[in-house]
Amino acid sequence: MNASASIGVFDSGLGGLTVLSALRKALPQENFVYLGDTARVPYGGRSAHIIQRYALADAEFLIGHNIKLIIIACNTATAHAEGIIRERYKDLDCLGVIQPGVEALLQQINLTSSASQSLGSVGILATKSTINSNIYRKNILERCQGIKVIQQACPLLVPLIEEGWLDDEITRLTIKKYLAIFKEQEVDALILACTHYPLLKEAIQEEFPNLTLIDSSVETAKLCKKLLEQKGLINSANKKGMVRIYLSDKSEQIPVLERLLGDIDYDSLEEVQLS
Ligand code: DGL
Repeated sequence: MNASASIGVFDSGLGGLTVLSALRKALPQENFVYLGDTARVPYGGRSAHIIQRYALADAEFLIGHNIKLIIIACNTATAHAEGIIRERYKDLDCLGVIQPGVEALLQQINLTSSASQSLGSVGILATKSTINSNIYRKNILERCQGIKVIQQACPLLVPLIEEGWLDDEITRLTIKKYLAIFKEQEVDALILACTHYPLLKEAIQEEFPNLTLIDSSVETAKLCKKLLEQKGLINSANKKGMVRIYLSDKSEQIPVLERLLGDIDYDSLEEVQLS
């Protein structure tokens, strides 16, 4: 494995750009290859075996681009395909976003308890398939017994985000409706368990100002850096790395993409065909 190789990042669509942005800030000298399967987004309502097939095709594509590490910047794909990708590509390190999301929650609990307030319940906002996998509940309860975990699937949010409706009345109403359960159940912290949702952070916080929002992207970037350091794979080049973006359909995506890319200055954007 070569330190100058790229870090491969994939998502079902554009939501993984929230993770890419955190990675780029934490590891500016690294080269990144990002794949958004915009032709098949959303994955979140599909069956496990379909998500696995798509995720394997995404991983396969990235592996063809000289990568040293693969980041599954999609909770849905992490929930259903992280194990299969690790199994199939044993020589390649792989990092999903669920473990970092749970770590970020645990840090929040520590912060809160050191301020002597215990954190009683946590909400999980995710796609249907992630919620159905129960993976967050299992992982949280393994690490922190006794915490109440309230889960809510939000199938309409990803299409609204991919459409670029980040600051729209319809999106605000949708958020209000989906998140009402967290208010009723007096949830203290909410994991944004879909990499698209940090794009709605402001809108969510406006509706629910007292809720602590947990976003796994920064923690994913930290874990990625740690892993590369442990393996001696940090790119020591004295210049900013390159970012290449590939989408399986870019026909309608450009205006939204420019908005979502924010501060990620990318070098190329191409459409690709996935198997
Ligand atoms: N961004 C993906 C996630 O983190 C899901 C979006 C989709 O439904 O495709 O779960």
